[in-house]
Amino acid sequence: MGYVSDVAQVVRVRVPAKVNLALCVGAADDTGYHELGTVFQALSLWDELTVEPAAPGVFRVAFRGEGAAFLPTDDTNLAVRAARLLASHCGVTDAGCVMVIRKRIPVAGGMAGGSADAAAVLVACNELWGRPARAHELRDLAAQLGADVPFLLTGGTAIGTGRGDIIAPIETRGTYHWTLALSHTGLSTPSVFREFDRLAEPSAPVIPQDLLDALAEGNVAEVGRTLVNDLSDAAIRLQPTLGSTLQIGIDAGALGAVVSGSGPTCAFLSDSAESASLVAEALAVFSGVRAVRSAIGPVAGAGTGTGDEHGSR
Ligand code: C5P
Repeated sequence: MGYVSDVAQVVRVRVPAKVNLALCVGAADDTGYHELGTVFQALSLWDELTVEPAAPGVFRVAFRGEGAAFLPTDDTNLAVRAARLLASHCGVTDAGCVMVIRKRIPVAGGMAGGSADAAAVLVACNELWGRPARAHELRDLAAQLGADVPFLLTGGTAIGTGRGDIIAPIETRGTYHWTLALSHTGLSTPSVFREFDRLAEPSAPVIPQDLLDALAEGNVAEVGRTLVNDLSDAAIRLQPTLGSTLQIGIDAGALGAVVSGSGPTCAFLSDSAESASLVAEALAVFSGVRAVRSAIGPVAGAGTGTGDEHGSR
């Protein structure tokens, strides 16, 4: 299978960040992964990937934008691993590519930036190499790369079970206005899970039905009230300022506040752009916050923008 013959010479894909509306954490299995019951929502904060063909066996990645300097670009990078995995799965023997990723999703922020990039690479390289993999194969490969990767292919709003990698999309109503407070320093996901293990006596993860009902109704205030993250206490123990960050957003009128994933980004929900901007103003002047971003959800998953996706752009 040739990488030059079939299609485009440059493929562009954009991929959203995620927030967990519920992150219910159970016990760890033998491999150290925890059983999760989670509700993901994809947000309008996108990384943009450009992929071009390269000589066979050459897989290179470069990052631009915020936090780019902190990311490894060797073979350990999840984007490179994603490209190699797809090539070997599909038997694209002469595969090679150069990937450039413009970062907007905060690095080490609990918004699945690395996983998003891996999802984008799967979609883009599949396009570049003439679509050798079907959608279900991409989902399987995504799950091999990381627990959050399958959701970033799907986007929208979805329930995640297992390690968070078994995805069931759900219908929601309404538009969710998010304000995201970025922290000065990142948090490593494994260290937050380790702290969780130290603090908690885990039970089977159960997603609150009230949250699912509120999403189905488009009751944004009730969604705000029912946001839940079992990793919050662990993240706040490792970064105590997060407790103040959450309180400042609530005091400024957010309908709900939650640590995003394993943190340290904090996510605040509003029902309008106007209310969200009041929350953003209050957070922007707090010294514990490095930067503030606004986003809406839900939006489509990783896509080229050629109609193979759903949701708003
Ligand atoms: O799958 P991914 O590489 O994104 O996960 C990063 C880390 O998060 C894992 O190494 C593990 O420590 C933790 N994790 C977990 N249970 C999950 C998902 C992730 O403990 N279900």
